[in-house]
Formats: sequence, C-alpha cells, structure tokens
Amino acid sequence: MTIHPAQLRAAADVLRQAQRLVVLTGAGMSKESGIPTFRDALEGMWAQFDPEELATPQAFQRNPRLVWEWYEARRLKVFEVQPHAGHYMLAALEARLPQVVVVTQNVDGLHKRAGSTDVIELHGNITQHKCFANCLGDPTLLNIATLATDSVPPHCPYCGAYARPNVVWFNEVLPMAALERAQSLCLRADVVLIVGTSGIVQPAASLPYLAKRQGGAYLIDVNPQRDELAPLCDLFLQGTAGGVLPQLAALLEQSEG
Ligand code: APR
Repeated sequence: MTIHPAQLRAAADVLRQAQRLVVLTGAGMSKESGIPTFRDALEGMWAQFDPEELATPQAFQRNPRLVWEWYEARRLKVFEVQPHAGHYMLAALEARLPQVVVVTQNVDGLHKRAGSTDVIELHGNITQHKCFANCLGDPTLLNIATLATDSVPPHCPYCGAYARPNVVWFNEVLPMAALERAQSLCLRADVVLIVGTSGIVQPAASLPYLAKRQGGAYLIDVNPQRDELAPLCDLFLQGTAGGVLPQLAALLEQSEG
C-alpha cells in the first residue's frame, strides 16, 4: 500500500488552494482511534452483528433492552478512545483555509473533540439520547444523567416513551437541516476530501456525485481499499486516515516554510 509521492504532492497543491473545502468522513476515519468500521470483512461491526436486529426502529420496538445495551456499550467505548493525528490535521486545516466543513457519517464526535468547529453529523451522535416518540419535536434530546434508572431503556420524562440513542438507524431519514446544508456545501465546494467511507450508504454516498457532477469540485479520496467513490475521484490516495492525512499536513507546512 504505497502512494506515489507525486500523488501526495498533487493533493497538497489542491488543498492549499481550496477556498471551500468539504471533508466527507466515514467509519474508516475513526478506525485508528480504535472504533471498528461497519463493513470491513472480518472486524467490521456488520460482520459480527445483524443491523436488522440492532440498528432499525423496528429492532428497538422488538427488543428495546438489547438495542439500548448494544448502543450503551458503543457509547462507553467512544469515551475511552481519542482522536488521532488525522482528526487533528483536519481541525488544523481551519487555520489555513477560508472555509472547512466536516460532513461526517460518524456518530462518535471525534472530529469535534479534535477541534473541528464546523461539523455536520449526518447520522447523529451516539453520546446523545432522545425520546423515541420525539414528543417535543425532532429531536427531543434527553439528558440521561437525569433520567430515572428503574427501567432499561429509561423513559422520556415528558411522555413516557423509551429513550434511545440520537443516531440515524436504517429505515430512518437523516436530520433534514444537516442533509440540506451538506448538499448545498457540496454544490458550492471547490474541493471535497473523502476519508474512510465505503461510499455505499445513501444519501451520504451521493454527496460526492453532487459536488463533482453539479458543482465541478475536485475530489480526493483517502482509503486503504478502492471504495465505490474512487472511480469518481480525481485523486485516489491508497492509505489510512492516520497515515495519509499527517503526510498531507507535512507537505502543506513545507510549502509555507
Ligand atoms: N483509514 C481510512 N479508511 C479506512 C481505514 C483507515 N484506517 N480502515 C478502513 N477504511 C475504509 C474501508 O476500506 C471502508 O471503505 O473505511 C471504509 C469503511 O466503510 P463502512 O464500514 O461501510 O463505513 P461507512 O462508509 O462510514 O458506513 C456508512 O453505514 O451502517 C452504517 O450508519 C453506519 O455511518 C455508517 C454508514
């Protein structure tokens, strides 16, 4: 898995001149922090667990306790891990470029913890909870530290429905404002840096198509495997987020020195 130095230099040149950068990230972005991806053949979450049993509203209705406990285990894991050098590199880009927005499918909050200030969380955030009935509007966020602990899952204090993680499950729509902002940023972006997504889950996977075909953006893809989006991209950098992004940062710095 080697990247030709000329490819890295080309990517750094494009990034250096970016005026409106969108960074689209997926589970591969967090892998080197210790959070498994979903679709890697052996270690991926969906190789070990059935999303139909754990990640749909129907699964939650069938077995709320099982789903709640699976997400609680994942939530606690998120607090144990740290952002890696790639997350910090993306946050540091904000000081260098006029506009950097991170659009992430990840629910772990690691981009914000690394210091990125403009992060669109397309699939929600696993550290938050909401009312399953969204009784006061979507999302009706709940502070679980204040919820009665006599039931698993706990109940919404306003309407009595179960509390649930504030993530987007299969068969659910994405938060409308987040998706619309991501779409409009992609239409206006001059560069889209894609990191660690298989590019098969919609509607996130359609964002690079929008950026390229309707907006004419330059697309750079970072992934150790050729993913579904690689053929659409102008540059495919075959490597990991934690390996490639710091190399790009070093090239950006050199050029300033
Ligand atoms: N650095 C960069 N990319 C990596 C790394 C790494 N260290 N390790 C693996 N990858 C790549 C894989 O090659 C794969 O293309 O990350 C991608 C992960 O793909 P998925 O597991 O499908 O994750 P993602 O694309 O984020 O999935 C989208 O599916 O089930 C859902 O809601 C979940 O948000 C998730 C959505």
